[in-house]
Amino acid sequence: MKHIIMDVDTGHDDAVAIALAGGLNDEIVIDGFIATAGNQIREYTLENTLNLTEALEMEAPVFAGSIGPLLRDRVLAGNIHGANGFEGPVFEKRKKKECMGNGIRWAIDHVLSHPGEITFVSVGPWTDLAVCLKSDERFASSLKEIVLMGGAVDHPGNVTPSAEFNVFADPEAAEIVFGSGVPITFFPLDVTLKLLLTQEVLDKVKNLPESRYKNIFLASMGFYVPSLLKAHGEMPAMHDPCTIAYLYDPSIFKYSYRPISVETKGDKTYGKTIGGKEDKNSTTKMAVDVDTDKFWALFFKAVNNLV
Ligand code: RIB
Ligand code: CA
Repeated sequence: MKHIIMDVDTGHDDAVAIALAGGLNDEIVIDGFIATAGNQIREYTLENTLNLTEALEMEAPVFAGSIGPLLRDRVLAGNIHGANGFEGPVFEKRKKKECMGNGIRWAIDHVLSHPGEITFVSVGPWTDLAVCLKSDERFASSLKEIVLMGGAVDHPGNVTPSAEFNVFADPEAAEIVFGSGVPITFFPLDVTLKLLLTQEVLDKVKNLPESRYKNIFLASMGFYVPSLLKAHGEMPAMHDPCTIAYLYDPSIFKYSYRPISVETKGDKTYGKTIGGKEDKNSTTKMAVDVDTDKFWALFFKAVNNLV
């Protein structure tokens, strides 16, 4: 079993990643969620994470994370994910409450008490992870692995021509993470934009037996698909779910081992992730290709295991 902490800015693709992890619980155990600002303000990403995990009967605790980046001004993505960050699904009034206490303190204590066992998965801005790394020097050496969605290496960004959203939202945090020395597997736009939702997948979901997640998925994509078609002229990419699919079946992706640095001083290039030459000794590997059929087969395996 793989024990993970999921740091999310629940939005539409975060929600697919959360559901994927929940449906693959024969291998993946979510020890806790931390909701950070990103797609929307932390109040909304926390609400979305609580609503979704309660609806899917996922009992892992949900903590509040950072309300904004380490240094720069906060940027959000309401233009893509809508006013509440997860437009589309409507949830019943929830009973699940956030876990009191600071998510970052909980994450540090949890990782230190399980040395070498916990994988930190971050699919929003990497602020919380950076604060954990900077707050306790034992945190990095106690982690098993860091798995990230973010960055754009040999591919244009999706916020500026240089920068992808999760890194653009906190470049200083990304610099700390890539400099941590912890084994990192990350999924930049180079690979995630090869994994687009298709009408065939949508139709297959529509033909599934009724379930709570089927309704949530279709309602969320009912908003997200037109939003992405309007903003980027293409179907939504399954950015965040790549992290979970990798943890369950690494063979779904192909990788390149490259040291990564982050531009934190540039004006036009602020938040760019720069890849060094291929180096098998690098502790960082980036996914560069994906078997889309294997991913979607895993998605439906997970969906069939959800309420
Ligand atoms: O650039 C894609 C990333 O930004 C995804 O994590 C999406 O949820 C948004 O946070
Ligand atoms: Ca996200």
